[in-house]
Amino acid sequence: MPKPVIPVAVVQPRLAIPPLAREPGAGPLADTRGRGLRDLRISVTDRCNFRCTYCMPREVFGPDYPFLPQAELLSFEEIVRVARAFHGHGIAKIRLTGGEPLLRRGVEELVAMLHEAMPAVDLTLTTNGSALKQKARALRAAGLRRVTVSLDSLDDATFRAMNDADFPVAKVLEAIDAAAAEGFAPVKVNMVVRRGTNDHEVVAMAERFRGTGHIVRFIEFMDVGSTNGWRMDDVVPSAEVVRRVGERFPCVPVNPLHHGEVAKRWRYEDGAGEFGIISSVTEAFCSTCNRARLSTDGAIYTCLFADRGYDLKAILRGGGTDEDLSRAIAAIWQGREDRYSEIRTAETARARKVEMSFIGG
Ligand code: GTP
Ligand code: 5AD
Ligand code: SF4
Ligand code: SF4
Repeated sequence: MPKPVIPVAVVQPRLAIPPLAREPGAGPLADTRGRGLRDLRISVTDRCNFRCTYCMPREVFGPDYPFLPQAELLSFEEIVRVARAFHGHGIAKIRLTGGEPLLRRGVEELVAMLHEAMPAVDLTLTTNGSALKQKARALRAAGLRRVTVSLDSLDDATFRAMNDADFPVAKVLEAIDAAAAEGFAPVKVNMVVRRGTNDHEVVAMAERFRGTGHIVRFIEFMDVGSTNGWRMDDVVPSAEVVRRVGERFPCVPVNPLHHGEVAKRWRYEDGAGEFGIISSVTEAFCSTCNRARLSTDGAIYTCLFADRGYDLKAILRGGGTDEDLSRAIAAIWQGREDRYSEIRTAETARARKVEMSFIGG
């Protein structure tokens, strides 16, 4: 008999919620390594119109790929319920991610709902920019505070090859301008640097955004998921990026804006602004990691490199109360031990992990 094909994205293994280690309520949450909970990253769709080779390689994410069926997605109401429960534990920032979050129909309504429920939260979104020009105004009006746009190359041929969707770079640049014009300036621009693919463009990228107010962040290519063919040889250490940029435009390090900031900041000495480096591979930042991730289908992942998440949807759809949600979040966080990037080995790099397009970056 032929073996049944189990669609990997639909049948995500889930972890049961652990018991509470201690009663929450007396002060902020802390995990087993004393790390607080500050950021919530919410993936609103597992789909994307790009097929970036380092994220959703087309050979894997082809026409038959089993993306989540609509019924599995959390509704906006469910997402807001979860976010409020996290807010009760003191989160300061919510970032909407995907896949490509602007593909989720009515995402601006979700932004409005989140903003209305938690006006003080730093509400932000990471996008590939393809639909940002059309959506920037509505997103701003809905209460989105900031946007980050992914842009891996300024060279059209390289960019089209990397997004593997033949999407032109000019449109992303236009979207960045449009977002800035709608009040999102400064925009953060994420460049994943991969040796031999786009690393020759690091200085050009710095130069393009110097003096614009926008902030480029050079990201080390990571071994997220299990499909992107990651090899250490393809990683360009951030120290090398800083050296290359600094040789052309002298720069000095700047203090973080808050504890646990992902990017390390560098300022141009001539006053033309700043850039950032995100060095998960060569300078792991797990010791201050204060981020939780909510997947499109309602699981909580406590690490970007986890292979499974905790089943919050069972509470949401099983008649659980807000108090149940809050206690589940506390229990998950209290039991958290993750520090993947600090203990990465060739073996863990090959292990099965959730895809980045499933839980956002
Ligand atoms: P702001 O500080 O709010 O601007 O956001 P951010 O620095 O979190 O930016 P963004 O969400 O754009 O994250 C940038 C990239 O950093 C992500 O796309 C990931 O590639 C990487 N990243 C973010 N959080 C983590 C994390 O917890 N672990 C690892 N290994 N990488 C992360
Ligand atoms: N390594 C580093 N960054 C990645 N991103 C996606 N996949 C990877 C990877 N393997 C980045 C995207 C985007 C953000 C959501 O995560 O470029 O900026
Ligand atoms: Fe889509 Fe972003 Fe992944 Fe590229 S990196 S395939 S734009 S989710
Ligand atoms: Fe946090 Fe996991 Fe990233 Fe370390 S590897 S910084 S624990 S998400």
